[in-house]
Amino acid sequence: MQDVTDLPFMRLMAHYGAPDYFFTEFLRVHAQSRPEKHIVRSIVENRTGRPVFAQLIGEEIPHMLRTVQELLRLPVAGIDLNMGCPAPKIYKKNVGGGLLRDPAKIDELLGALRAAVPGLFTVKMRIGFDSTDHYLRILELINRHRVDLLSVHGRTVKEGYRSDVHYDFIATAVRTVRCPVLANGNVTSAARAAAILRETGAAGVMIGRHAIRNPWIFRQCRERLAGNVVFAPTFADVREYIGRLYRETQTAEIPEAAHVAKMKKYLNFVGQGVDAEGRFLFDMRRATTEAELFAVCDRHLLTAPAKPFADEPYAGVIARPNCETPVESCSLDTVTA
Ligand SMILES: Cc1cc2nc3c(=O)[nH]c(=O)nc-3n(C[C@H](O)[C@H](O)[C@H](O)COP(=O)(O)O)c2cc1C
Repeated sequence: MQDVTDLPFMRLMAHYGAPDYFFTEFLRVHAQSRPEKHIVRSIVENRTGRPVFAQLIGEEIPHMLRTVQELLRLPVAGIDLNMGCPAPKIYKKNVGGGLLRDPAKIDELLGALRAAVPGLFTVKMRIGFDSTDHYLRILELINRHRVDLLSVHGRTVKEGYRSDVHYDFIATAVRTVRCPVLANGNVTSAARAAAILRETGAAGVMIGRHAIRNPWIFRQCRERLAGNVVFAPTFADVREYIGRLYRETQTAEIPEAAHVAKMKKYLNFVGQGVDAEGRFLFDMRRATTEAELFAVCDRHLLTAPAKPFADEPYAGVIARPNCETPVESCSLDTVTA
């Protein structure tokens, strides 16, 4: 996730129970682009013990191939192509989710990337741009170009982040493509992961926002799928996570106010599991200093430290009110504060 899945965040996830593998934030590819340093760092300095796929977003084949060559010199598990980003400033350039309008372009791009990547070449996609008319054709292209792994976020670009997820379309992908499919979208808990795997027949799940809210989710999925007791974090555990998140993501160059603002991006998601009325979010969004932020956390989380942290996000507690709408206004850069 852009601005989220950097090296400190991957380290944190590994601390609480790493996923089987990571995908980087997308690397933007265009005529002047060079792989962003902090994303390269999340690959090169990664000591989580988990493979890392480098994700690209772009459409111009010569620049995509140049970037692939640079990335293949790094210890990447594979190269992933983003065909899903719904931010208008991205899709208007016909990259990310914008590609889904143009199967001929996808054909060309997948062909070129497949030829350039001797190891694992993977794709992350949504089920369409504003309709699913091209979906089956794109799945055929996934087969034709021998994509090694397909992650499907079961929404169209225009559906943004909050509509129902169309798991039936993910099941169609599972039936149609020859590679393994990861089901993505609202995998909110280990119980939901198990249900979604049953419903779609997918080989695995990809988890985004819900790992920010609940960093134990990967461990919980593993425990649930193995039939073991599933770890149940308390409010005290969540308070410890927030403290660790603050320390891990802090650098000497970031002033306190900017770091507090960055923390709010993560806490927007954590707050979905704290209380049903959004009181934690209301108070947290008003903090401007480290001391204020942690005073809010202590008040909401340490008054009853043994209270169980909700398994599922509370319905109606919205992490990013300006962004999680199904249409135009969504920008990945939006900070809700
Ligand atoms: C802040 C944010 C940044 C994201 N950045 C990326 C990205 O760089 N690449 C990508 O493939 N998906 C990105 N996504 C989409 C997620 O990977 C995922 O497909 C989507 O949020 C639905 O899954 P979830 O319900 O598990 O979050 C991003 C989502 C969010 C909320």
